Amino acid sequence: MVHRRNKFRLGILVSGRGSNLQALIDASKKKEIDAEVVVVISNNPKAFALERAKKHKIPAIAPPDQSEKAFINILKQYDVDLVCLAGFMKILSPAFLKAFPKKIINIHPALLPAFPGLQAQKQAFDYGVKVTGVTVHFVDEGCDTGPIILQSPVVVQEDDTLGSLTERLLKEEHKSYPKAIQLLATERLKIAGRRVIQRKK
Ligand code: GAR
Repeated sequence: MVHRRNKFRLGILVSGRGSNLQALIDASKKKEIDAEVVVVISNNPKAFALERAKKHKIPAIAPPDQSEKAFINILKQYDVDLVCLAGFMKILSPAFLKAFPKKIINIHPALLPAFPGLQAQKQAFDYGVKVTGVTVHFVDEGCDTGPIILQSPVVVQEDDTLGSLTERLLKEEHKSYPKAIQLLATERLKIAGRRVIQRKK
């Protein structure tokens, strides 16, 4: 008999504030996603994200051994179904990707392939685009280059500052990340080359 879990187990990698982590914890508590955050791991012991996790009694770990192997071991120990990067500011090696094939996703604050890398909001604002947005994508060996799961546009207003635009983007991130995770948790996605195809319900 095939054993099906009733909830998808999420391992979240963070480096900082953790507002996306919070959005995922909240979505799980409100049962908006069939998934739960089972462990949070940081490469920065001072990350506020760790406090957020602890507040919800979720194991929050900043391993003293910062090797990828240590991260992989923890994620395996918690038997995660999906690894979600949420403001995790480190590129993962091919060995890490191999440990979780097609099971690592990231959220990026721009409409990829435009403005990959750091400070995407500022890159887009300084460029003068009229529309930017957020992207949730699978992680591959490149920097923000993996197959795209979903994108949501955010219009740049005439009177936007970098701060106001960043704030609207973040609100959109908090909606998009749970949405993408729900598609994965309910097994509605298929990767076909660069394309991620949604099966009908
Ligand atoms: C978010 O805007 C996320 O998209 C971005 O870092 C911020 C983390 O905020 N990630 C990247 O730029 C990755 N390239 P949070 O810690 O409050 O979730």
